Amino acid sequence: REAPLVLGIETSCDETGVGIVRGTELLANVIASSMDEHARYGGVVPEVAARAHLEALGPSIDAALAASGVSLDDLDAVAVTSGPGLAGALMVGVGAAKALALAIEKPIYAVNHLVGHVGADLLDADAPLETPTIALLVSGGHTSLLVVRDLVSDVELLGETIDDAAGEAFDKVARVLGLPYPGGPEIDRAAIGGDPRAIRFPRGLTQPKDQAAHRYDFSFSGLKTAVARWVEQREAAGEPVPIADVAASFREAVADVLVTKAIAACTDLGVPRLLLGGGVVANARLRELAQERADAAGVALRVPPLSLCTDNGAMIAALGAQLIMAGHEPSGLSFGADSTLPA
Ligand code: KG4
Ligand code: ZN
Repeated sequence: REAPLVLGIETSCDETGVGIVRGTELLANVIASSMDEHARYGGVVPEVAARAHLEALGPSIDAALAASGVSLDDLDAVAVTSGPGLAGALMVGVGAAKALALAIEKPIYAVNHLVGHVGADLLDADAPLETPTIALLVSGGHTSLLVVRDLVSDVELLGETIDDAAGEAFDKVARVLGLPYPGGPEIDRAAIGGDPRAIRFPRGLTQPKDQAAHRYDFSFSGLKTAVARWVEQREAAGEPVPIADVAASFREAVADVLVTKAIAACTDLGVPRLLLGGGVVANARLRELAQERADAAGVALRVPPLSLCTDNGAMIAALGAQLIMAGHEPSGLSFGADSTLPA
């Protein structure tokens, strides 16, 4: 049997993603972002994101079909992100996917967004996903550590942020430094030439007392507050703020915590693979430190191309294709927004 041809729809945050795959072959990956509309608010506004999805979905589906040369009749199934994410944003994608599936009389598969990020690696033709693997997913909306033993049947959440997501911390600290939104790329740029050891910012949930309950959890709100306080004190003393040093030291603290916990999971669970995903993977220092520590620990590091790391529809389609190939039943038309992981 030929690998299934699946159209995937992703609307959990600010990216409207429509992708088409045949099994693990990427045929189209169309992404429309409403980031510009959120910029003046300094963060993603749920209502604005939902409206933007409503406007962008139709044209994005057309564009994905045109780019792939696939017609709706050829599709074997539709896959859609059912959670986790912004409820209103998710509902737009789920509603559209159900309508499409009904109109073309094809089955629909509801998929988990986080597992979708792991599935993105299937589409990286150079070296496809191997399991078991630890997955570190970091974006503006999530910071999660997973162990993936089987993509469609055995994914376990080891830990996640108990307050801000890592990308959110970049966005908030950028604001403290007077840099525009989104803050990640701005801080990456501002850190050039800065000394990452100039200021020792706190590493959240890494103290001995955190080891039992929060070994794989993250916390970035204390770090954000520490940066804000440090900058305020400088300003109050009438001294200039060394932006490059602050940016480099902050970025180092985030990367250090993320990589330390991910490598600890690899070591503790005896899993010699680490996969990175999410928009924060664009961070140069995070990738560098992950490579260094993975090499030292004998862990194989996988970093898919950035176009597959940020939110997209192709990863959702790829996971849908895996579900079909594993013989899973379609989801039917009565599912809602849901964030459970496959058992
Ligand atoms: O996955 P993504 O595109 O989508 C959402 O979360 O919606 O991630 C966006 C997040 C933003 O918070 C942004 O500041 C962060 O990823 N980001 C970065 C970098 N590029 C984007 N964070 C750190 N360093 C970067 N170079
Ligand atoms: Zn995501």
